Amino acid sequence: MLTLFQIYILSLAILLTASEYFTKNKNFDFNESNDSVFLISKKLVPKFFECVKACKFELECAYFTYKFTECSLYTKYAIYIKKVSQSSEIYTRLLTFNLNGLSYYWPVFNSSANDVVSKADLYGPVNAIFISNRQGIPNSAIRLSIGYYNLPARKYFDGDFTLMAWIRLTKTVNYQRFIDCGINKYVTVVASLSDGSTNKPYFAISNENSQSVPRVISAKPLILGVWYHLTFNFKNKTIYYFRNGVLDISGKLDNPISINRTVCFLGKSQYQNDPNTSADFDDIKLFNKALNDDEILNQYHKNY
Ligand SMILES: *[C@@H]1O[C@H](CO)[C@@H](O)[C@H](O)[C@H]1NC(C)=O
Ligand SMILES: *[C@@H]1O[C@H](CO)[C@@H](O)[C@H](O)[C@H]1NC(C)=O
Ligand SMILES: *[C@@H]1O[C@H](CO)[C@@H](O)[C@H](O)[C@H]1NC(C)=O
Ligand SMILES: *[C@@H]1O[C@H](CO)[C@@H](O)[C@H](O)[C@H]1NC(C)=O
Ligand SMILES: *[C@@H]1O[C@H](CO)[C@@H](O)[C@H](O)[C@H]1NC(C)=O
Ligand SMILES: *[C@@H]1O[C@H](CO)[C@@H](O)[C@H](O)[C@H]1NC(C)=O
Repeated sequence: MLTLFQIYILSLAILLTASEYFTKNKNFDFNESNDSVFLISKKLVPKFFECVKACKFELECAYFTYKFTECSLYTKYAIYIKKVSQSSEIYTRLLTFNLNGLSYYWPVFNSSANDVVSKADLYGPVNAIFISNRQGIPNSAIRLSIGYYNLPARKYFDGDFTLMAWIRLTKTVNYQRFIDCGINKYVTVVASLSDGSTNKPYFAISNENSQSVPRVISAKPLILGVWYHLTFNFKNKTIYYFRNGVLDISGKLDNPISINRTVCFLGKSQYQNDPNTSADFDDIKLFNKALNDDEILNQYHKNY
């Protein structure tokens, strides 16, 4: 049995832990919704702390409410169904933190291309605007029209990784890039959306000035105007390319060298002559580990 004092200390610890990650907003609630764009889950849990924990460990949980043991977790989009409501309260997440190896995350939301995990905010947009995402939420995806963004200098790659995003090609453009991230055209990691003008994605890693860099090329072209969830999963020197959660092709490549990648783009090539990209992007994630097949499929099925 816990003594009253122990219970007091325990509650204090729980409050402290909760306040480290969440802030309480009084007199607010969310409109009833079972739409998975807004609501992640609704469960009965006996203790407030379990609800705090549930939100804390669900990466996409941005808000939660706790009403008479009913714990509801909400996505960032729930801001759109937030309403004033006396004697209700919502809890808003303060920190996102590294979960399951996610080291960079650009959710693209509310006209922001910031990275919510590592502050590697995209900058210097060229021919870029914010558009509605695939669920119709306004200003929640990036549209490049022969354009690009810069990524700040970071050691983005070191051994295994998983790079994924929702991507919609809007135009056929020679060798257009998703990511091209290195120090120059000889030392870079390339996720391209089109081998030539075929719209077949490929992946390449080059670590030195060599003439022929191996590329792993999909046989399946992307169709213009269709959103795809694309994943490039690198494990033990093999790249696995998944389209909509399903493995498409794999092939051997060298480990990317671990360097500060100072010339790094979304939608632009290190080669001056490769055109800038025409595509839409959303929910860009980079994990510092290789996710397994189930995890990749789960990411595809997520609505947020
Ligand atoms: C959401 O609720 C509506 C009305 O209560 C219902 O018709 C619909 O099937 C529900 N959708 C899901 C995904 O549960
Ligand atoms: C909440 O739902 C009500 C009734 O459906 C609607 O009139 C109101 O605009 C909604 N509020 C928000 C903030 O979405
Ligand atoms: C969007 O961001 C602006 C500040 O840049 C903020 O004032 C506004 O409340 C945000 N809206 C939503 C829906 O998060
Ligand atoms: C990476 O390069 C940038 C730009 O040159 C520099 O500001 C930053 O300090 C470097 N970071 C590391 C970890 O070396
Ligand atoms: C990595 O691949 C090599 C051969 O390609 C294999 O011998 C080795 O066991 C693999 N390592 C792991 C940890 O899977
Ligand atoms: C990509 O855009 C930049 C900035 O507008 C421009 O300088 C560059 O020439 C473009 N690349 C190509 C191949 O057109």
